[in-house]
Amino acid sequence: MNTDLPLIVAPSLLAADWSQLEKECSRAIRSGADWLHLDIMDGHFVDNISFGPQFVQTVHETNDIFLDVHLMIERPDHYVPRFLAAGAHNITVHVEAEARHDVAATLGAIRAGGCKAGLALNPATPFAAVEAFLDSIDLLLVMTVVPGFGGQAFMTETMSKIDAAVQYRERRNLRFHIEVDGGIAADTVGTAVSHGANVLVAGTSLFKAPDMTVAIQQFRDTRS
Ligand code: DX5
Ligand code: ZN
Repeated sequence: MNTDLPLIVAPSLLAADWSQLEKECSRAIRSGADWLHLDIMDGHFVDNISFGPQFVQTVHETNDIFLDVHLMIERPDHYVPRFLAAGAHNITVHVEAEARHDVAATLGAIRAGGCKAGLALNPATPFAAVEAFLDSIDLLLVMTVVPGFGGQAFMTETMSKIDAAVQYRERRNLRFHIEVDGGIAADTVGTAVSHGANVLVAGTSLFKAPDMTVAIQQFRDTRS
């Protein structure tokens, strides 16, 4: 396992109290978050609608932290310039045909905008679907639930794709992060980390924890 990649904890604002957005962001940062994860949903690619570039910009203007933007939308290529302008530090797009874009071109546009580029795959999508793009990404997001909603159960069967990604990365001497998203909590995080995930996205288990500092520390302890 490539453990020289840092362990990064990224609370997902989907599970925050949006009526207290500024407080929720600073609570996450104070509790030890490395990144904030922002889930953009359009009601087409996934069956839920969340928020857009203006929300990302508000978070950017009121906080000094790396913003990890996860686009669960159709035609992400059309919207990338707006998320770049909003202050995203990483933009992740989906590889599935339903996202309706030229994946290589979109990844290129993200990087040309001075941003890190991520590629995501759903639980039903095989690892082979992302292989052609792995030398042009900074992050591979292996979805551990079917995207669209917070609070779902972690799907252990997705771990074989992390194994495949770790092997591929070693063979080709690449350095992309491996991120997991969905159902990550004290009882599942160890599994994801032991397979090789180093970026841990969690909404419910962090924002709804009695003490977020303790919950984030539990994630970090999986490495020690
Ligand atoms: C799911 C989103 C996730 C979501 C995770 O579609 O991509 O980022 O916020 O939520 P939890 O951690 O509650 O499963
Ligand atoms: Zn997400």
